[in-house]
Amino acid sequence: MSNTLGELLDHPQDFQSWLHQINAFQSLLQVLARTRLLDQWDSQPAHLSELAPRVGIPEAQLGRLIKVLVSQGVLAFAPDGAICHTPRSRALQTMHSSIRVQGMALQAGLCLSDALRTGKTGFEACFGAPAFDYLAANPEMANHFAGRMSQITLHDEPLVLAQLQLEPFRLAVDIGGSHGTLLLGLLAQHADARGIVFDLPDVAAGAAERLRAHPQGHRVQAAGGDFLHSVPAGGDVYLLKQILHNWDDAHCLTILKSVRAAIAPAGRIVVIDRLLPETISPDMAFEFDLLMMIWCTGRERSLSELRQLLASTGFAVDKVSANPGRLCVVEAVPI
Ligand SMILES: C[S@@+](CC[C@H](N)C(=O)[O-])C[C@H]1O[C@@H](n2cnc3c(N)ncnc32)[C@H](O)[C@@H]1O
Repeated sequence: MSNTLGELLDHPQDFQSWLHQINAFQSLLQVLARTRLLDQWDSQPAHLSELAPRVGIPEAQLGRLIKVLVSQGVLAFAPDGAICHTPRSRALQTMHSSIRVQGMALQAGLCLSDALRTGKTGFEACFGAPAFDYLAANPEMANHFAGRMSQITLHDEPLVLAQLQLEPFRLAVDIGGSHGTLLLGLLAQHADARGIVFDLPDVAAGAAERLRAHPQGHRVQAAGGDFLHSVPAGGDVYLLKQILHNWDDAHCLTILKSVRAAIAPAGRIVVIDRLLPETISPDMAFEFDLLMMIWCTGRERSLSELRQLLASTGFAVDKVSANPGRLCVVEAVPI
C-alpha cells in the first residue's frame, strides 16, 4: 500500500473516499465469492437475463453490480451488451477462497472493540470459538482457509525459497503445513529429500488428497496431530511458516519445545513470519499484528522477541533473512 493511514488523514476527502471504497469493494467481492457469479459463464459472453436466475439475484440489482465491475475494468461489455471476462476477472475467479476468509476476518474485526474489553479475540467474540476450533467444525470454511494459505504461500514461495539455501537434508517436517505447498516447493530443490506435512487431522486429510494428485506427492507423507502435544520425530529440517504468529508466547514455547524434542541433533528449525521492526516505522508487520489480534491470541514479533523464544526452548539463531514488511526467514539450530 502506498499510503499510511496518517498520510490518508492529511487529505480528509481522500480518507472519506477510501472508507467508501473499502465498504463498496468488500461487499461486492463477498457477493462474487458467495454466488460464484464469475464462474457462471466462460469464454462465450453471457447476458444479464441468463446470469440473474443462475445466481438468484434480481436482474436490476445484478445489472448494477456488473456495471461497478465494468467501471473498475474487471468485466467488459460486448457490443451486443453481453458480459465478457477480462484477465482481471479471471484472476479474481482464483481468489474466491481468499475473499471468503477475508469476509470472516471482516466480521471478526467488527467485534474487536467488544472482544478487547472482554479479553477474547475478535474471532471468538464473533463466531463463538477460537479460529482453528471453528474451522475444524466447518469443513467448507476450513477448505477455503487451506486454499487461501496455499495461494498466499505460492505467492511468497519464490522469496522464501530463494533465501532458504539449505545444505542437503534427508527429511523436512512442515509444522502446521496446511496442504503442503511450501514443502513441495522446497523438495523441488532437493531431489533426494522427503517430507512430512503435519497439521490438524482434517487438514492433513485434505493434504493427503492433494498430494495424491501431485506428481511429487509420493515424496511427502501427510500426518495429522496436534503440535501443542507433539510433532513427528527425526526430521532434520522443521519448517514453521506463519505458525508462531498465531499463538501467544506460552503456546509458542509449547510448540517450540515439541520441535526441540523431535528434531535430529544436527537439525535446523526454520521460522517464517513477518518481523516487527525494532523501532517503529511504517511496516505491514504492524497491520498483521492487528490482524492476529482479530484472529487469535497470537502476535507478530521482533527478531529479539523471537530470538528469546527460541533461546528459551534450546535453539540458537544461526541465520536471518529480513524483508521489511514481507515474510522473513529465521533459521536456528539446537543447542
Ligand atoms: C496460518 S496457517 C499456516 C499454514 C502454512 N504453514 C502456510 O503458511 O501456508 C496455520 C496452520 O496451523 C494449523 N494448526 C492450527 N492449530 C494446530 C495444531 N494444534 N496442531 C497442528 N496444526 C495446527 C492450521 O490448521 C493451519 O494449517
